[in-house]
Amino acid sequence: MRTLNAGKDLMRDYTADELPDPRNADIQVWVGDQLVHRHDAKVSVFDSSVQGGDAVWEGLRVYDGRIFQLDAHLDRLSASSHTLAFQGVPSRAAIKAAIFATLEANGMRDQAHIRLTLTRGPKVTSGMSPAFNRMGTCLIVLAEWKMPVYDTGGIRLITASVRRNSPQTLDSKIHHNNLLNNILAKIEANVAGVDDAVMLDLNGFVSETNATNIFAVRRGELLTPHADSCLPGITRRVVLNLGRKEGLPTGERNLSLAEFYTADEVFTTGTMGELSPVLEIDGRRIGGGSVGPLTARLRDLYRQQALNDGERLPF
Ligand SMILES: Cc1ncc(COP(=O)(O)O)c(C=O)c1O
Repeated sequence: MRTLNAGKDLMRDYTADELPDPRNADIQVWVGDQLVHRHDAKVSVFDSSVQGGDAVWEGLRVYDGRIFQLDAHLDRLSASSHTLAFQGVPSRAAIKAAIFATLEANGMRDQAHIRLTLTRGPKVTSGMSPAFNRMGTCLIVLAEWKMPVYDTGGIRLITASVRRNSPQTLDSKIHHNNLLNNILAKIEANVAGVDDAVMLDLNGFVSETNATNIFAVRRGELLTPHADSCLPGITRRVVLNLGRKEGLPTGERNLSLAEFYTADEVFTTGTMGELSPVLEIDGRRIGGGSVGPLTARLRDLYRQQALNDGERLPF
């Protein structure tokens, strides 16, 4: 029978040589209430994530036998699922047990990133209404070998035309899987040949990038947009606290693009990439065009805290 995909088997998994890190070729993934080989790690076509991007998620990192900020991530997952009125959410103890079991099955105690997803679960028929969800949520623990993803020597950004969500539309305090405006911004970055895109809020102030929070250092002050439109990132909070401990004046306020173009240093923050120096935005060189001293200092402090401060793995 002719298929629309000209014979491509879209149910096949990628082979080891197609993967960015071949160590992930045989990983075990937690789906629902069990561990399965990645080839079999699938959700139903009736799942709410397929039907409407109706899911919440967290990205976590494993450093030297510890998960950094585990409870902070589970607090945010719980807040997101409560706001979206999910029913049948697993307990914190059950989620932690699934995370630990997944890491143990894969022998991961370091250099691993966990994509933790909770979907509203399978629907009894296709459609939008959460009333069709009769089985409770579906938990996915996808742990992969993954080093921080951005070039440690620095990244380049452009400003996207698409705006970040505001509480007027979709509150960015919900860490949900409706990522299309961020994906549209990332397409703009890809087309421009840069690493990521700055997203503005509905008033034209800088919000964050498509995947990270953003900071400016101006005359020794550590500044970041307040979390009206951006995700209140966990790395963002850790970095603000580190800055205060270092005695730096810190501020959360409206910041325009001009203030970023003329900053002494700019860097982005996120669990996936830690702190990433920004060398250029929209073709404007930032500061001296190399990794700034405060960025380097805060990045070192962040790494030290990540290595020493996470929840210990029980295996
Ligand atoms: C849009 C966006 N901003 C910022 C972040 C960084 O958040 P965190 O520091 O909690 O990883 C993320 C991470 O998921 C994100 O998706």
